[in-house]
Amino acid sequence: MRMVDVIEKKRNGQELSKAEIDFLIEGYTNRSIPDYQMSAFAMAVFFQGMTKDERVYLTEAMVKSGDQIDLSAIEGIKVDKHSTGGVGDTTTLVLAPLVAALGVPVAKMSGRGLGHTGGTIDKLESVPGFHVEITNDEFLRLVNTNKIAVIGQSANLTPADKKLYALRDVTATVDSIPLIASSIMSKKIAAGADAIVLDVKTGSGAFMKSLEDAEELAKAMVDIGNGVGRNTKAIISDMSQPLGFAIGNALEVKEAIDTLQGKGPADLHELSLVLGSHMVTLAGKAASLEEARAMLEEVMRNGKALEAFKTFLASQGGDASVVDDPSKLPTAKYLIEVPAKAGGYVSAITAEEIGVAAMMLGAGRLTKESPIDLAVGIVLHKKVGDSVQAGEALVTIHSNNEQVAEVMEKVYGAYQIVSEKVTPPTLIYKEIH
Ligand code: URA
Ligand code: CA
Repeated sequence: MRMVDVIEKKRNGQELSKAEIDFLIEGYTNRSIPDYQMSAFAMAVFFQGMTKDERVYLTEAMVKSGDQIDLSAIEGIKVDKHSTGGVGDTTTLVLAPLVAALGVPVAKMSGRGLGHTGGTIDKLESVPGFHVEITNDEFLRLVNTNKIAVIGQSANLTPADKKLYALRDVTATVDSIPLIASSIMSKKIAAGADAIVLDVKTGSGAFMKSLEDAEELAKAMVDIGNGVGRNTKAIISDMSQPLGFAIGNALEVKEAIDTLQGKGPADLHELSLVLGSHMVTLAGKAASLEEARAMLEEVMRNGKALEAFKTFLASQGGDASVVDDPSKLPTAKYLIEVPAKAGGYVSAITAEEIGVAAMMLGAGRLTKESPIDLAVGIVLHKKVGDSVQAGEALVTIHSNNEQVAEVMEKVYGAYQIVSEKVTPPTLIYKEIH
C-alpha cells in the first residue's frame, strides 16, 4: 500500500477501507508516514468528510496506537462522562461522587490540561493532601470499595491522536467534525469505560459556537461510540455564559460541595441531575431517567453524595474535613467586588472573556509548565436574565495580587446590561441517542 494512493482516494471523495485507515494510522505512529503526507490527508478529510464506517475505523486505529486501560477487574458497568469543555464547568466534581453514591462505578482517568482553570485533577488538588499518584492496582481496588477513584492520565494513551491533533493545529484542519469526533472518542474508548455520556457544549464559550455544529458533533460521537460497542448518549448544553457561579480551582471545589448538598447554582444543579440520570440508567441502576433523577435527588438530600465525596478524598490522601469546612481550602488574599456601572438586566456574559479574566489571575495555565494558583478566580453574582442595580456587585474577584484593573476591564467587557427584561438562556437544548 502507498500513502499517496490513500490520499488521492480520499481527495477524490471515495470511501477508505479499514485496511487503508489502519495502514495510515500505524504508519503515522511508527513514523514511516511523514507529517507532510498526513497533513495532505487531513486536508482531504476536511473537504471530503468521512463516512460512519471510516470514522469508526479511524477511532479504533487511534485507540490501538497506545495503551488501552483494562477496567474488567471492576464490578459493574463503568460509565464515563466527557464534556467538550467550557468555562467554570464544575460538573465532573459533582457527578463523580453523586453517581458513586448510587453504586455506579466511577473509574476516572483525568488530566491537568491547559485552559482557563486547571483540569479536574488540579481542582481536586486544592484539597490539602489529595493526590492521584496511585498504582493501577490501588485505583482498581478503590473503585471496587468506594465506587470512585481518580488517576492521572497514562502518558501513552492514543499517541496517534496526540500527533495528529498537534499537526491539525498548525495545518488549519482542527475544525473537521469527523476528525474532532474520532479524536475525542479515541481517548474515551482507550480509557476503558463500557458506556459514555457526552456533554456537548454550544455557545460563545464553547468549541462549537452554533447549535447545528454542536448537534452534528454530538451525533458523530454517539455513532462512533455505539459503532465500537460502547453504549453512548449525548446532550447538548448551553455555554453562552459560564456554568454555575465559580470559575477557579478551589472555588469550584466549594461550588461542587454546595451542589452535592442540593444548594448549588440552578444551572449546575440541573445539568448534574440530567447528566447523572443518563449515567445511572446506562449503568443499569435505574429503569428510566425519571427514576434515576429521583434517586440522585435522594442522595443529595440524605447526605450520601457528600459522604461519597469525603470517602473519595480521604482515600486518596485528602483532608476530607474541607467538605464540612470549605474555609480550609486555599483562599485568596484579596476579595474585590466589581460593581455594575448601570442598572438593568444582564443580557450576556461572554464566557470566553470571563475565562480569560480567571486566567489573568493565575487560575489556569498558558503552557504545560506554568504554575497554577488554586485559590484565585471569579465568582459571579449575576447571571443572564438577572436584574441588577447600579453599584451592585456583578462578580467578586479572588486575587493574590492587589492590582486587578485589567481583570476588572475584562469583566466589564464580558457583561452586557440592557434596560428591557431578558429571558435566561435554555440550559439543555437536545438529547441525542
Ligand atoms: N478536542 C480533542 O480532543 N480533539 C479535537 O480534535 C478537538 C478537541
Ligand atoms: Ca462553575
